[in-house]
Amino acid sequence: MNLVLERKTRLIKTIVMAMPDKLSEKEISPLGSLDEWEEDLLKRYPDPDTIAKDKSKDEYRNYEDPARDTVREFYRLNHTYQTYKFVQEKREEFLKFNRKEMTVWDAFQFLNQLVDDSDPDTDLDQFQHLLQTSEAIRADGHPDWMVLTGLMHDMGKVLCLFGEPQWAVVGDTFPVGCAYSDKIVYPEFFSNNTDYSDPVLNTKYGVYAPNCGLRNVTMSWGHDEYVYQMLKDYLPESGLYMLRYHSFYAWHREGAYDHLLDDHDREMLKWVKLFNPYDLYSKNPTPPDWKKLQPYYEALIAKYLPPTIKF
Ligand SMILES: [Fe+2]
Ligand SMILES: [Fe+2]
Repeated sequence: MNLVLERKTRLIKTIVMAMPDKLSEKEISPLGSLDEWEEDLLKRYPDPDTIAKDKSKDEYRNYEDPARDTVREFYRLNHTYQTYKFVQEKREEFLKFNRKEMTVWDAFQFLNQLVDDSDPDTDLDQFQHLLQTSEAIRADGHPDWMVLTGLMHDMGKVLCLFGEPQWAVVGDTFPVGCAYSDKIVYPEFFSNNTDYSDPVLNTKYGVYAPNCGLRNVTMSWGHDEYVYQMLKDYLPESGLYMLRYHSFYAWHREGAYDHLLDDHDREMLKWVKLFNPYDLYSKNPTPPDWKKLQPYYEALIAKYLPPTIKF
């Protein structure tokens, strides 16, 4: 292909894949429920204990169910539209925290407005997932700040209630501003992303210096970064890594992006790894007895967090 034609083709591709001015309902909510993403994670990363007890790994890897199609579409949209520029815009828009100010209790109630059309008999509300995560951490005797981290880790999903598309709230996260790793789920969809044909952004280091440390790397936009920024003054560094990178599966499960890490990240990885099973494998159909737990959690929140939090 001659150079002019090649550039023209690239331009056409850019136009085709640029973000539309207005997203359709299907593009905002490709998943029937946010849980479909988490259920998909369980298929990718099944609980080793459960495999040992009953189901075989193959059973878990049965991708034939209809939810797979919506998850695939979800990732197509996520990988297409999470460009470096998109993330900068979202950071600008949401990290001012000028939307709401609430007590933590009101924030849980607010988050629980996030109901979707999934089966109400089998799906627990958001607060119960948070409480089951924190209770599993507490039962294993971990420090109280980690229990609180478990309780707060998905608070960023309120982004959906501010009208954000599902693929800009949940889903695996990954660095933007440099080449995408093929360790990210559905890597083939990145060819739709306008950054993919950018001569700077689609290089190994992109806008970053070698081993610059994750704190200098911009991650795709979603509930992890938002909750990290919300709570960064109140939890220890190890808890902040859990919040900020809990959906960065290409790193904490697949070992990608070593070329961007510094020694501090490598040190902190063990905390992110420690947290992940509590997030993935603590789901239980029996809701925790909130009445009994309330005094403990009220004291825990008062110990670490201010009376109100800004959203
Ligand atoms: Fe999460
Ligand atoms: Fe979670």
